[in-house]
Amino acid sequence: MLSLAAVLIFLSASLAEQQPDVFTICGKLSSSQCRVLKRRFVSSTPVAVKYYLHTRQNKETPIVLEGKNPDLSGTPFRSNRPTKFIIHGFNSQGDVQWIVDIANELLIAEDLNVFGVDWQKGASPLGGINYFKAKKNCRKVGQTVGNFVRQLGQPGSMIHIIGHSLGAHAAGFAGKTTQSAGFTIARISGLDPAGPLFKISRPTKRLDKGDATFVDVIHTDAHWYGKRKPLGHVDFYPNEGWNQPGCGDFPVDQLTACSHGRAYEFYNESINSACQFLAYRCPDWYTFIVNREQCDYCDHSGLNGACSVMGYHSINYPDSQGSMYLVTKHLPPPHCVSETSRQQSTTQCLQSLGPDMRQQIWDHVDSIADMKEMGNLEDFCSLYSEMGTVVLNITAPMPNCGLEDIPVILEYIGDGKYDSVVAWAEDDCTGSSNGAFTLPSAMLLIALQLIVAVLGNA
Ligand SMILES: *[C@@H]1O[C@H](CO)[C@@H](O)[C@H](O)[C@H]1NC(C)=O
Ligand SMILES: *[C@@H]1O[C@H](CO)[C@@H](O)[C@H](O)[C@H]1NC(C)=O
Repeated sequence: MLSLAAVLIFLSASLAEQQPDVFTICGKLSSSQCRVLKRRFVSSTPVAVKYYLHTRQNKETPIVLEGKNPDLSGTPFRSNRPTKFIIHGFNSQGDVQWIVDIANELLIAEDLNVFGVDWQKGASPLGGINYFKAKKNCRKVGQTVGNFVRQLGQPGSMIHIIGHSLGAHAAGFAGKTTQSAGFTIARISGLDPAGPLFKISRPTKRLDKGDATFVDVIHTDAHWYGKRKPLGHVDFYPNEGWNQPGCGDFPVDQLTACSHGRAYEFYNESINSACQFLAYRCPDWYTFIVNREQCDYCDHSGLNGACSVMGYHSINYPDSQGSMYLVTKHLPPPHCVSETSRQQSTTQCLQSLGPDMRQQIWDHVDSIADMKEMGNLEDFCSLYSEMGTVVLNITAPMPNCGLEDIPVILEYIGDGKYDSVVAWAEDDCTGSSNGAFTLPSAMLLIALQLIVAVLGNA
């Protein structure tokens, strides 16, 4: 959890994208004043990097290695095993839970050396580091990691670096560092690479697809802490790439960094889950939602290079490049929706609703995220099945109240079953109606009961 102060600094950095930044301000000052300002806000500080080595031989207790190029003799590190690094972002540390979790999942999947990279001293607001400084520091961290990779003496094809937020850019700098020493690392996975202060920067100053043989990126908070622009060979935009389901609205999502953190939750889940995060290559999110048939046909084999799976296994679809879209579930993990359950549920939903009924319901669905723009119930059923939870806001005449907005929440409760909560009390007149509703309420309520009954058995 980010501390409030950290969030404010981060937010102000984010706002700095639209507003004059320190460099612009500097132009209006004398050079000595400018130097002071830069020292305060943007100069980097020496960064002490520490490594936590996880292997199958020491799953419970990672070995802590200090110093830039720590001595690996006597540790369970083995140079015949592939090596992975995991780098945190602003205001975090190398033994944070999600790094430990991803290290564990990786070690379940494969026999590896996994290093959690700690650069807390260069990334912590409590240690006096603001986001501007941390942004500078992440470059040094990347260079340090890149040099450590060189010392390992393994071929680039055995190296994979995973980084979150500023750590994703650090991974890019590590890749650039090994490249200047003459070899390219196999892979970088960028988990919601930091956006603030990186928006206008050139490929040399951020994570870029040139930094490794394969660069896969997950965007989960593109409008705030993350970056919207595609950076890798393949870029995944789950749920449009921002404001993830269940994260709440502004400012809750920002204060908890919920959407920003979804990227590592998705990645973690993708490693050993039987359910694959199938993603479609589309021109944009709107097309994906409204006209999926206009997206490239995706038969899950990836052979045509048109689809991929988000996360760890995207490397198995190296020809599937570009921007990929997918929907995940609202509920706490698992986030993934399997293709078979999605298809079954969609079919059942469609079979159960005759054309007239579909139109009637459709006419009264006015508040489902992103569904307003959809033209038919097929899309409704399909998205419904993927998302698991849908809030329908309907307006109906209520006893004693007149017209009222009634939120109806359909929630996926696991095992292919849905439950409904009609969130209104008879005497609770809120006068909330926006008057949009015109059909007799009886018909509407029957329609809703039908949906609920059908999906309840789905
Ligand atoms: C990672 O996955 C494991 C296994 O499903 C789970 O127990 C853990 O909570 C997950 N961690 C994160 C950060 O999502
Ligand atoms: C439904 O209406 C209520 C009250 O007008 C509003 O607070 C809520 O955000 C709406 N829900 C959705 C999903 O739009």
